[in-house]
Amino acid sequence: MNEHSQKLAKPVTSGLRDCRSDFPALDQEVNGHSLVYLDSAASSQPPSAVISAVAEYQAHDHANVHRGVHTLSHRATEAYEGARDRAQSFINANTRNEIIFTRGTTEAVNLVAQSFSRPTLKPGDRILITHMEHHSNIVPWQQVCEQTGAELVVAPIDGKGQLKTDELIAQLDERVRMLAIAHVSNALGSINPLREIISNARRFDIPVLVDGAQAVPHMPVDVQELDCDFYALSGHKMFGPTGIGILYGKEAKLDAMPPWQGGGDMILEVSFAGTTYNELPYKFEAGTPNISGAIGLGAAIGYLESIGMALIERHESEILAYMMAELDKIDGIRLIGTADKKASVQSFLLDDIHPHDLGTILDHKGVAIRTGHHCAMPVMEHFSIPGTARASLALYNNRDDVDRLTEALLVAKKIFKK
Ligand code: ALA
Repeated sequence: MNEHSQKLAKPVTSGLRDCRSDFPALDQEVNGHSLVYLDSAASSQPPSAVISAVAEYQAHDHANVHRGVHTLSHRATEAYEGARDRAQSFINANTRNEIIFTRGTTEAVNLVAQSFSRPTLKPGDRILITHMEHHSNIVPWQQVCEQTGAELVVAPIDGKGQLKTDELIAQLDERVRMLAIAHVSNALGSINPLREIISNARRFDIPVLVDGAQAVPHMPVDVQELDCDFYALSGHKMFGPTGIGILYGKEAKLDAMPPWQGGGDMILEVSFAGTTYNELPYKFEAGTPNISGAIGLGAAIGYLESIGMALIERHESEILAYMMAELDKIDGIRLIGTADKKASVQSFLLDDIHPHDLGTILDHKGVAIRTGHHCAMPVMEHFSIPGTARASLALYNNRDDVDRLTEALLVAKKIFKK
């Protein structure tokens, strides 16, 4: 533990224990300063529990799943399927068949666009998204609209970066064949009122896909309570490995969908005359899967459960409120994204300093943030800006991190004044 992390061991009022020492990457110096990691919306740091679960599997249990009669293959299968069970209980899916391992949120959305929507869409049908979506929840729908002649319709956001919910509800009608919506905006942090929106979508029997990548690491998520049809998430944004994610889908919907990709594991029988497909969830997991990724994701879920999502949510909302207040005190700051209900993200601009310059100066002070359009170019267009600086929080951040951020911003201000 370095000097800085010892200082950070003080308790926070939310009651969350200091868990920084669980994350080895946080205990290092960057450019001569102890690291302050404020880029978890892009990718969060893994705790030791995840690193060692993956290493254990790689060192002792690595083999292909569902195929071998030998012991290592059994162990690998058990660990891989155990991760599915953990995921099922974490988001409260009704059955384990509703948990499909994917490469991440992006692949999950593409799977639904191509397997659920594409076979039935026709000209005159609509796909409804919102202006705050990031590219992963825009481009797959644009592609399927091009392929089928359906129309992409966008629900507006306001000057605070929050959804104009009434306008979205007014856009719901029998022409809409899919509503695809973020749970939490990656660039703005706005939390969408999903229950209200989904219950309105039900009036027209509109299927709903929720992009949950930025929600799952920060708050309890219950897919049955939300009553969404699909929910997509990424492992690396919730302290797991990259290259693994989950598509949750209601069993009846997944059952009726054709497979998206063909290959091993998704079949029961193959002959040149034809193929019979495997049952759920394997029908959607063609080829050797990312076994170590799934095991790491299972360990990440175990870690989150050991802390408790309600406590994490309380802690982060306290730190976010502090961060917004402290940033707002800086002369020349413009906060982008000030929705009434927010999670874990603050975008901003400072004077006329380019966000990339700001990010570089902050990095010299050991503070990691993301700069640019955050894969949400329409959001930038809405605010008539090319990009922002974005500080994003996770359970391991605290007030001292925010203080280091604001100190570094004051340094940047001084440099650019000269
Ligand atoms: N969507 C990711 C982010 O917000 C990459 O940074």
